[in-house]
Amino acid sequence: MSNLPLIEVQNLTQTIGAQEILRGVDLSIYAGETLVLLGKSGSGKSVFLRHLIGLMKPLQGKILFENTDITQLTERQLEPVRRKIGMLFQDGALFDSLNVFDNVAFPLREHDKREKKIQDKVYEALTMVNMTGHEKKMPVNLSGGMRKRVALARAIIFPPSVILYDEPTAGLDPIISDSINRLIRRLQKQLQVTSIVVTHDLVSANHVGDRIALLDRGKIHFWGSLEELKSSSDPVVRNFVEGRSDETNEVE
Ligand SMILES: Nc1ncnc2c1ncn2[C@@H]1O[C@H](COP(=O)(O)OP(=O)(O)OP(=O)(O)O)[C@@H](O)[C@H]1O
Ligand SMILES: [Mg+2]
Repeated sequence: MSNLPLIEVQNLTQTIGAQEILRGVDLSIYAGETLVLLGKSGSGKSVFLRHLIGLMKPLQGKILFENTDITQLTERQLEPVRRKIGMLFQDGALFDSLNVFDNVAFPLREHDKREKKIQDKVYEALTMVNMTGHEKKMPVNLSGGMRKRVALARAIIFPPSVILYDEPTAGLDPIISDSINRLIRRLQKQLQVTSIVVTHDLVSANHVGDRIALLDRGKIHFWGSLEELKSSSDPVVRNFVEGRSDETNEVE
C-alpha cells in the first residue's frame, strides 16, 4: 500500500430526480489496498461505483484517477481508463444469449480479432476463477456463484489495476460466499490490484478488507479498521453493526 491515493474522490454530489443520493462524498483509495464500502440498502453504494467508471457524471465534485479528473472526460477519453478498471456488477450482468466463453470474450472482441489469442486469454481468466470446463454452458444453466465467477472472469479480461465488486457475495450460501471471498483475495495477490468491495456482509468485509468506509446519508460517515468499526460508539455505526433498522436515517 503506497502513500499516494490511486483514486481520490472529492465532494462527489449526485441527485436522481428530487432525491439527493450523494451529498459530498470524500474518499481516498490507495494503490494496493482493498477498501470495503458498507452502507444499508438504498444508501447509494451502486450509484457511487457507477461514477468511478464514468457511467454517471456527478452534479458536483471530482474523481481523480491517477491524478486525472475522470468526471471531465468524454466517452472516448474514458475508454483507456475503463480498461484499467474491472467491475463486477451487482446483478452479474451476463449476456443471457451468449455462452460462458463468449461472455468472457466479449470485451476482447471489440479490440482483437485474433481468435487464438482470444481463446488463450479467456482460458486464462476462466482458470483464475476456477471455471474451466464450463465454456459451453449458457448463463441460465449456471448457479448464482458460477455466474458471479464468470462475470468476474469477464471483469479481469484486461488485467485491471482496480476491481470494483458490487455485492459479490449477496444471495449466495455461506460456502459459496467463502469461495468468492477467497477468490477476491487471490486476485488481489495475483494481479496486485486495488479493490473496492461493496457489501452488507461484515464477515465478507473481515475476510477481504484492509479498511472500511461506511456510506450513510450521502456521505462517508465512518472510515477505519473493522475493529474500530465494531468498537465505535457512534449511533449510526452501532445501528449498522447490530443490524438495526433506523427509519430516521433513510436517504429521502
Ligand atoms: N436508475 C435509477 N433511477 C432512479 N433512481 C435510482 C436509479 N439508480 C439508483 N436510484 C436510487 O438511488 C438510491 C441509491 O441506490 P443504489 O442502487 O446506489 O443503492 P445501494 O446502496 O446500492 O443499495 P443496495 O444495497 O440495495 O444495492 C436509491 O434510492 C435508488 O432508488
Ligand atoms: Mg447496490
